[in-house]
Amino acid sequence: MNSDRIRIAAVGDLHCAKAMTPGTLSAVLAQVSERADVLALCGDLTDTGTADEAKSLVRELAVAKVPIVAVLGNHDYESDKADEVKRILSDGGVSVLDGDSVEIRGVGFAGVKGFAGGFGERALQSWGEPILKQFVREAVEEALKLEGALARLRTAHRIALLHYSPVRATVTDEPSEIAAFLGSSRLEDPLNRYPVTAAFHGHAHRGSLEGRTSSGVPVYNVALPLLRRRFPNEPGFRVVEVQVERTTNGGAPSAPVPVHAGAGIGATIP
Ligand SMILES: [Fe+2]
Ligand SMILES: [Fe+2]
Repeated sequence: MNSDRIRIAAVGDLHCAKAMTPGTLSAVLAQVSERADVLALCGDLTDTGTADEAKSLVRELAVAKVPIVAVLGNHDYESDKADEVKRILSDGGVSVLDGDSVEIRGVGFAGVKGFAGGFGERALQSWGEPILKQFVREAVEEALKLEGALARLRTAHRIALLHYSPVRATVTDEPSEIAAFLGSSRLEDPLNRYPVTAAFHGHAHRGSLEGRTSSGVPVYNVALPLLRRRFPNEPGFRVVEVQVERTTNGGAPSAPVPVHAGAGIGATIP
């Protein structure tokens, strides 16, 4: 590892499933240790959010000999066992972030699942029926959790991990009818408010690879199905490299430099 350059491998939507052949995800992640210093997982870690799937995933992740940080996705909530899934992953050495932040090798990570609601002027507003207000409140609360996690970091680089997209740009290749269910602009505000180096998300399996927030923060959609489709001959993760200044006063963060992007074989995804 270059002591000043930290390589972050990111992928979402592994969808570890009961029927998945053992070793499938290990094959996707086999080159993580060579190509990255940290692995970031952007939700939908399991397919239906069961304890067995989480245990299988821990076994599959053993191939990646680097620190692993993750957020959960909507699929991880499907069986009403999200807390158990989180505990199993945590016991397996994965830092699962839910409004939390962690510093790994000098880089700060802040993570939330996020939520839906749409983007820009078309975003769903809190008005009308109570259940609709509840829907909007979920997105607002996730955005507040993200803001709190970013605020607690004191690192030169802040990396945001999400499952849902914070910007419209990385879901543009999805059917327009479902765009509002793929993310929320409310998640973008904290990314603009803090000096965030880059944000990663998943969930939009047919989305677009890259976008930016209105203040210019790079946003990467690292959903595995998207990476596999766009880079069929590459490993199933995206790598972004950041410069960690090791000066006594911290130093200014540099722009992230994508050094590798690709997709590999792997997960069975609905
Ligand atoms: Fe997914
Ligand atoms: Fe999802």
